[in-house]
Amino acid sequence: MYFFDYFKRQKLSAVFVSSLAFILLASCTEKSDNQVRERLSINDGWRFFRYDDATDADGLIYDVRPDVDEDIDQREADDQPVEGEWVEGEESVLKAWILPSGNDFIKDPAKRHVRPEGYPGFDFPFVQAGFDDGNWEKVNLPHDWGAREPFTYEVSGSMGRLPSHGVAWYRRSLDIPSSDSGRQIYLEVEGAMSYAMVWLNGHLVGGWPYGYNSWQLDLTPYIIPGGENQLAIRLDNPPISSRWYPGGGIYRNMWIIKTEPIHVGQWGTFITTRDVSEESAVVDLEVTIDNKSNENADVEIVTFVYELDSNGNRTGNRVIEFAPQSANVAAKTKTTVNSSVTIANPRLWGPLPTQIPNRYLAVTEVQKDGKVVDVFETPFGIRSLEFDPVNGLFVNSEHIYIKGVNQHHDLGPMGTAFNKRAAERQLEILREAGVNSIRMAHNPPAPELLELTDKMGFLVVNEVFDVWERRKVPFDFHLIFPDWYEQDLRAMVRRDRNHPSVIMWSYGNEVGEQYTGDDGAALSQKLNDILKDEDPTRPTTASMNFAKPDMPMPATMDIISLNYQGEGIRIHPGYEHLQGIRTHPLYTDFHEAFPNKMIISSENAAALSIRGEYLFPVTPNSSAPVSDGIGGDSENLIVCAYELYTANFGSSVDRVFAAKAQHPFVAGGFVWSGWDYLGEPTPYYDARSTYFGIVDLAGFKKNRFYLYQSHWHPELPMAHILPHWNWPDRVGKVTPVHVFTSGDEAELFLNGESLGRKKKGDFEYRLRWDDVIYEPGELKVVAYKNGEEWAQSVVKTTGAAESLNAEADRDRIKADGKDLSFVTISVTDEDGLVIPDAKHPLRFSIEGPGEIVATDSGDPRDFVAFPSNERNAFNGLSLVIVRGIPDKPGTIRVHAESDGLKSATVEVQTHP
Ligand code: GAL
Repeated sequence: MYFFDYFKRQKLSAVFVSSLAFILLASCTEKSDNQVRERLSINDGWRFFRYDDATDADGLIYDVRPDVDEDIDQREADDQPVEGEWVEGEESVLKAWILPSGNDFIKDPAKRHVRPEGYPGFDFPFVQAGFDDGNWEKVNLPHDWGAREPFTYEVSGSMGRLPSHGVAWYRRSLDIPSSDSGRQIYLEVEGAMSYAMVWLNGHLVGGWPYGYNSWQLDLTPYIIPGGENQLAIRLDNPPISSRWYPGGGIYRNMWIIKTEPIHVGQWGTFITTRDVSEESAVVDLEVTIDNKSNENADVEIVTFVYELDSNGNRTGNRVIEFAPQSANVAAKTKTTVNSSVTIANPRLWGPLPTQIPNRYLAVTEVQKDGKVVDVFETPFGIRSLEFDPVNGLFVNSEHIYIKGVNQHHDLGPMGTAFNKRAAERQLEILREAGVNSIRMAHNPPAPELLELTDKMGFLVVNEVFDVWERRKVPFDFHLIFPDWYEQDLRAMVRRDRNHPSVIMWSYGNEVGEQYTGDDGAALSQKLNDILKDEDPTRPTTASMNFAKPDMPMPATMDIISLNYQGEGIRIHPGYEHLQGIRTHPLYTDFHEAFPNKMIISSENAAALSIRGEYLFPVTPNSSAPVSDGIGGDSENLIVCAYELYTANFGSSVDRVFAAKAQHPFVAGGFVWSGWDYLGEPTPYYDARSTYFGIVDLAGFKKNRFYLYQSHWHPELPMAHILPHWNWPDRVGKVTPVHVFTSGDEAELFLNGESLGRKKKGDFEYRLRWDDVIYEPGELKVVAYKNGEEWAQSVVKTTGAAESLNAEADRDRIKADGKDLSFVTISVTDEDGLVIPDAKHPLRFSIEGPGEIVATDSGDPRDFVAFPSNERNAFNGLSLVIVRGIPDKPGTIRVHAESDGLKSATVEVQTHP
């Protein structure tokens, strides 16, 4: 539909009757006199509207899309991508007005886009200040319009059965004081899913299609200082755009940035460190000055360095300053200046637990005629990295084995709306398993997540694309790849290049171009070269699940990232009959072919399970592809939690550990996946969320968590027994018992009687007693290390359900509407033991200045909407996420009840 037809077609005439009674929404904070740069949150006070049917929407489209109707519910993750499909856009599409928004990220001036004449959509009601949006929903950002809705079979399992697709609008008014005349005013968007287009006061300003990058628009030409300015943002999520739940909406922070006409440009500092030792380090700084004024300007640039404490607060005096730099910046241009300084005895940034993630802050001042016209802050870290093809990764000369996991961007029951505490909890729980590295699969994360990885001392592979030109699903990124790959690559690097946690850039995941020989390799080379041009200090990579050492693609990147190929795909006993990619273990082949490149497994395992569900018999193998009768039940959508079962292309954790141990030159790898995530519910696409995580969607640990902990935290005395011991139907039946321990040997007792002492053999990571005959009572394991007793653990048959128990992960949170407390509700017997198969219906309520944000049980088949206050416990547990009301400190009481059980209450204090 052509957009000027809107008035004829729009069915909502009742709501857009022009009205002067528009709502004055929260205004931006006034600037204080000494603030030359302001960064003001505009997360609050939005109005939101989503069309019931996107085909009935306004016609203000970015571009036309191919006509494809495809069911992707059963797409196997490693299916070969196919040729992309594009159609010729019509004149009415807005792409030509949006492309110039990326011009700063296109190196060749000849390739930059010229904005056409005119302001498409200027007469469309939603962009008008006078439009009455009073009956639109009130929302605050970050906002994900899908995750609060009921699950629906109208959406594929791949995309999480939540309605993230569709066309929607956000409106907000900005109060811009007249004192802002002459200043630059920018809109900074950390992430909007997707195809964002922005109007201000009726003018189409620009936008950014890729939902995972951050971007900025210059609002200055359209701002009317001294009053209300109307912002209107349109998003458009195609129906089949992703292999996982992408979320929909402005799901990260949004800011207004105000500066003087001469200022540090967008992401305009680049700090790198070299010659790093405990005694000294050289810090190189590049500053880009943007002169938006009509006159050439002589400026002075000075940068001071401070220490940051572990909370990111500036401490103490200046550590050092860079020598002042002078520059003449011509009107309407940018200039970059470079300087270096040597810091003595630097406090190095390094990964926990063996190093400390110390950070510094560079404060850059731009002066003109002796007056400070901008102050720009850049947190950074000093560290050295070496990527050794034989010995692996060294950070500050210490060998660091990469114990990594892949993480998607959703926060489970919170959806994709970014929340720093929810992300921090994910990292904290992963850390307990020994994780020290995160691969951002398969897109740049929220900026705050990188603040967390910097602060918490994780290493990060920052990844930008899941597809290039060849597509995995009909409306994925391939549609915009030809127009946007350069801008999206450069935007990722410029935003994230100062984070010490980011150790390499990944420009692709399992892309279809692996299959297209020299053509694919040429494209890979091109993308690699762009990254190198932006950041020569970090290595590049792209994950390969198909390309072999003798194919052209691997040669194009710095680091070889293998998905599943290192362990071998579909060749081990039990896997040979499966269709799809098949390869013998390839670590050695790659190592021999590329003796100068470090190798990691960017994805490994793809093991599957549901927390606390067991199926018998148990495979005698150390790894098996799940199927009915072999760890799987396709009718009830269960994968058994003995942690031996995998996707068709995967390998159990045990097999991955063995492969790594047999190939010590491999620098480590990343498990698929750290946490369960929404969508891609392999192998049962009738579910809502995945089975891959070592932690479930609610944050409860699966057995696999302890297998990682036993191997990655060898100094932690621990032993974990599985399964649970409530099997009234299995009395007298063989019920295998497996133990994960950081010891090397263990003795198992059933009701006090020894079932034998076992020692781990070479390349064995679990102890198995596969012939145990079930009788109720107590299982106890005593683990040994080097012959000495090391750890004990007990699992008991529980009594009947008697009570609920409620426990908050933090009983003191901030009353800011953002901080969260995660309350675990468990169903217990009279001794307080959690009943491992309890599925009681629970009801939750809250008193005091707080609200329940979401609830979940971690069961991938649980289709109760996330905001619900009623939910069945799943295998003894359920989660209630609560937050305080902004500026209303007090005591929150969270209650849980279930008929016939003693109810539970937990108190959470909220503070200013
Ligand atoms: C890989 C893919 C991931 C995910 C995973 C499931 O092939 O890169 O995104 O789909 O499989 O194991």
